[in-house]
Amino acid sequence: MRAIGFQETGGPEVLHLVDVPRPVPGPGEVLIEVAYAGVNYGEVQHRLGDFGAPDTLTVTGLEASGRVAALGEGVGGLAVGDPVAAYLPDGGGYAEFALAPAEFTFPVGTLDLRTAGGAALVLTTAYGVLDGAVRVRPGDTVLIHAAAGGVGSAAAQIARALGVKAVYGTVSTPEKAEYALRFGYDEVFLREGFAEAVRTATGGRGVDAVLDPVGGPTRLESFEALAPFGRVAVYGEAGRHPDLTLPVLPVWKNNRTLTGYNIGDLSRRDPHLLRTHARAALELAAAGSVSIDISAVHPLHDAAEAHRAMQAGEVRGKSLLEIGG
Ligand SMILES: NC(=O)c1ccc[n+]([C@@H]2O[C@H](COP(=O)([O-])OP(=O)(O)OC[C@H]3O[C@@H](n4cnc5c(N)ncnc54)[C@H](OP(=O)(O)O)[C@@H]3O)[C@@H](O)[C@H]2O)c1
Repeated sequence: MRAIGFQETGGPEVLHLVDVPRPVPGPGEVLIEVAYAGVNYGEVQHRLGDFGAPDTLTVTGLEASGRVAALGEGVGGLAVGDPVAAYLPDGGGYAEFALAPAEFTFPVGTLDLRTAGGAALVLTTAYGVLDGAVRVRPGDTVLIHAAAGGVGSAAAQIARALGVKAVYGTVSTPEKAEYALRFGYDEVFLREGFAEAVRTATGGRGVDAVLDPVGGPTRLESFEALAPFGRVAVYGEAGRHPDLTLPVLPVWKNNRTLTGYNIGDLSRRDPHLLRTHARAALELAAAGSVSIDISAVHPLHDAAEAHRAMQAGEVRGKSLLEIGG
């Protein structure tokens, strides 16, 4: 089958169209004939080697949609031909066929396969950060960094669905700020000096939760945007800054909480909770409460260009690879 693989880490040019054997589903696994694969920032970091260098040909791709092609032993509730969306913890989505754990494979319901291709990782993460990491409650106020991106655009809408009262965002350009407003943000700020803008918007109080996948100076400044008992959730490092060393005493002196979210860790240590988040988020999408704006669709052989755009921060909403769609 055709796939996009890389054997050495580096720029988008290390991604190559390769011919690899079609995988065979083992117990508890589903083989999916992939229609669309989501393009995610985590896959860019995978390619760059931020999660370690591969020792063999690697096919990345953490989410996909398509039709069930075969079921491994013990898999129930799905049938060959069913349209599904899946989170792929071990990657493999940039290919004509991909293996997914049955517990992270979901019927698409009313979603079309195109939309579903960018749903399983993005919606689950957005829901998990909000519900699991910062534990939003109705009436809370939330600030979301990278507000116009895949996870950010979903998180704003899920926050609303969970009863959040006000949703603010930050982005890097005025164009993205304008674009992000369609996802229900009250205000979207440029990142420069955002903490002050948030304090002004909230009458000096700050927000109850900050969703931070950017890191570095943005992470540090996020603490200045918190209301008492506010929570900062760390769930990415898009800026690729060195890790921070934070003093603990300000947690005491300023009533702060630092929390985190990692879908890979959750998939290994609490797959049931991950599935609960995924189902809740997918139900919101199927009901029309959350929409995914597919802004770019690339053919499989153009995966390098999709990665270049994602790494350059050019993607708004969601980018996909069309494989069998
Ligand atoms: N922890 C988890 O389990 C988990 C799961 C999924 C995703 N994530 C993280 O969530 C974040 C969003 O993922 P996504 O796939 O939806 O990507 P995305 O938000 O569509 O794209 C990444 C965004 O990061 C921002 N950014 C900040 N500094 C950047 C830099 N130096 N280079 C490029 N972009 C930069 C850009 O937004 P601005 O232009 O507004 O700065 C860019 O649009 C990523 O950090 C990803 O790693 C984490």
